[in-house]
Formats: sequence, structure tokens, C-alpha cells
Amino acid sequence: MSVIEINHPLVQHKLTLLRNKDAETKLFRETLTEITGLMTYEATKDFKLKDVEVETPIMKTTAKALAEKVAVVPILRAGLGMVEGVTTFIPTAKIGHIGVYRNEETLEPVYYYCKLPENIAEMKVLLVDPMLATGGSAIYSIDYLKEAGVKDITFMCIIAAPEGIAKVIEKHPDVDIFVGKIDQGLDENSYIYPGLGDCGDRIFGTK
Ligand code: PRP
Ligand code: URA
Repeated sequence: MSVIEINHPLVQHKLTLLRNKDAETKLFRETLTEITGLMTYEATKDFKLKDVEVETPIMKTTAKALAEKVAVVPILRAGLGMVEGVTTFIPTAKIGHIGVYRNEETLEPVYYYCKLPENIAEMKVLLVDPMLATGGSAIYSIDYLKEAGVKDITFMCIIAAPEGIAKVIEKHPDVDIFVGKIDQGLDENSYIYPGLGDCGDRIFGTK
């Protein structure tokens, strides 16, 4: 297990655009997609390749192709904002959905929906959610995937609180976490600070 913070200048620059409270919905969505694409590049760097035959305009040759079966699973709602960033680079990825929201009083995850690809147990799963705060939603979703038989899970998030990371590591030490930035902590409402506010509301324009 490892926690990898993506310190690439482009990711850090684009994160600042997301944090800006005046960023409009269009910019917010597009930037979230771009950051996710850059993170996908890092998170897939150890994916296995296989040999395939290809005919170039010059000759037949043996070249490389992805050997992995991949699924991307967004935690609804905000995780939906990261799907395109993954599928742009892995268009063959299957897409599953886990619907969990955080009860804002108890902070406990509340389940409401799930649909996973057939044979997900054989796939490498990229679980995506922009925000890792207390860790409740991520832990619930990883539990759910493991109960479905998934053995290979990578969690990708844009901003995380140290408290949430510690909890995920404690419960699921086998899961790699790729994170854009580990922020300072959680405020009195368990929002990440400095953070970027409520990510779902900012993606979908609901507040
Ligand atoms: C946000 C976020 C995570 C969760 C993180 O979702 O997208 O899923 O909170 O908090 P946690 O680590 O304390 O569980 P939210 O519950 O606001 O639902 P939404 O995506 O539908 O807006
Ligand atoms: N969910 C969010 O969208 N933002 C936070 O800071 C914490 C939970």
C-alpha cells in the first residue's frame, strides 16, 4: 500500500483553479476532468502490457497494448466528475457506480445505489471521488467492492484530509491512494480545509 501525492506542477496549478470560490461550473468541471486525466497517467504507470501484432504503413510488427481489464467506479455524485478524465485515456474501461452520501449530522455514509460491471472481480478497479474527508464514504465503497470480489483497488481523489487517509490506510492497507493534494485537516463541520468546498454542489451547480 502507498499514498502518492501528485506533485506535478500542472496538477498543483489546476488545483488552485478548482479551489477558487469564483470558478464557474464549466471551468470547474473541465479542470476536474483535466486533473483526473493527469492523475490517471500516474496511477496506471505499472499496468501490464501484452504483445500485439500491428501492421504499420511500412511493415508488420509486434507492439504493446494494455493487458489489464479496467473498471472505473465513481462514488456518486461527485465521483462522476472524474469519470471522463479516466475514460479519455482508457476508453475500454467499464464503468460501475456506487451511490453513497455522507449524512451531514452523523457523518456516516448512507448507501442508496450500486451497479457494477459483470466480472468486476477480475478487473483492476480505479475507485474515484474528488474528496476524501473523514474517510467514511471511501471505506464503505472499498468494503463494497471487496464484497463483490474485487482484489485490485486503487483509490484516486483530488483533495484529502490527513485524518481520512489515516482511516483508509488502517482499514484497507492493501489499497493504493493517489491524491492531488493532502490538505491541512477537517474543520468543525468535517469539511476539508483549505479544500474547495462541497465538490458535488460545485460540479452540478446545486447550490
Ligand atoms: C462528498 C465527497 C465524498 C464524501 C467525503 O460527497 O464527494 O463522497 O463527501 O466525505 P467523507 O470522507 O467524510 O465520507 P457527499 O456526501 O457530499 O455527496 P455528493 O457527492 O452526492 O454531493
Ligand atoms: N465533501 C466535500 O464535498 N467537501 C469536503 O470538504 C468534505 C466532504
